[in-house]
Amino acid sequence: MLSVNQLRVSYGESEVLHGLDFTVAPNEIVAVMGRNGMGKTTLMKSLMGIVPARSGAIRIGDSEITGLKSYERVAKGVAYVPQGRMIFPTMTVQENIETGLSVHGGRSVPGDLYELFPVLLEMKGRRGGNLSGGQQQQLAIARALATKPKVLLLDEPTEGIQPSIIREMARTLRRIRDEKGLSIIVSEQVLSFALDIADRVLVIENGEIVHEDSRGAIDEAKVARLLSV
Ligand SMILES: Nc1ncnc2c1ncn2[C@@H]1O[C@H](COP(=O)(O)OP(=O)(O)OP(=O)(O)O)[C@@H](O)[C@H]1O
Ligand SMILES: [Mg+2]
Repeated sequence: MLSVNQLRVSYGESEVLHGLDFTVAPNEIVAVMGRNGMGKTTLMKSLMGIVPARSGAIRIGDSEITGLKSYERVAKGVAYVPQGRMIFPTMTVQENIETGLSVHGGRSVPGDLYELFPVLLEMKGRRGGNLSGGQQQQLAIARALATKPKVLLLDEPTEGIQPSIIREMARTLRRIRDEKGLSIIVSEQVLSFALDIADRVLVIENGEIVHEDSRGAIDEAKVARLLSV
């Protein structure tokens, strides 16, 4: 579904991603793990077209998206939940979700989004900025899903969220994958969440993939070691 070949990304003269190679299959959930500053957000931003690739290729199916603008990638089926959620604080919950609808010309929020996130239905008239962190995260995911993506990118969705809500988020994301049949790439530092949700775990260190394991064969001790300073 998504393939990344020799992706290099720099900020000015400083190269941050040094030629990443990986693929994500349809229906697959891949966790990209790594400590602070290792390049997770840079990877997400480059997949989304917020930061340009210096070289390499990004494809959705057979279609190359490497040079496309962010909105063109959204139309091709890539959706993004940024680190820190970045919902629109002064807009209502419903208005926030509606910003995602324009991609396909939809007018009203599909009921299944409120079914996935009942709390958003309850609060649909409330301003986004007045929701709790966990509720804002659900809102950011609902907004991304409103664009009907094939590939959903989530950058550290568990950051600042309590353990019980993290477990619920894992369940909801698996349900979304099962019901909507999309691929998910999630960057994470919380190992328990990644083990709970991922079909495959990649560990990124200083802009390179240094370790990869599939579900059922995840070397937890090794991944934990790579995540500890
Ligand atoms: N806009 C920028 N300009 C220059 N350097 C940047 C910029 N954004 C990030 N970097 C650098 O790129 C490297 C990777 O940062 P990135 O934000 O991708 O890490 P991360 O893995 O997402 O970290 P965290 O877990 O803290 O969110 C870091 O060394 C960071 O300082
Ligand atoms: Mg980050």
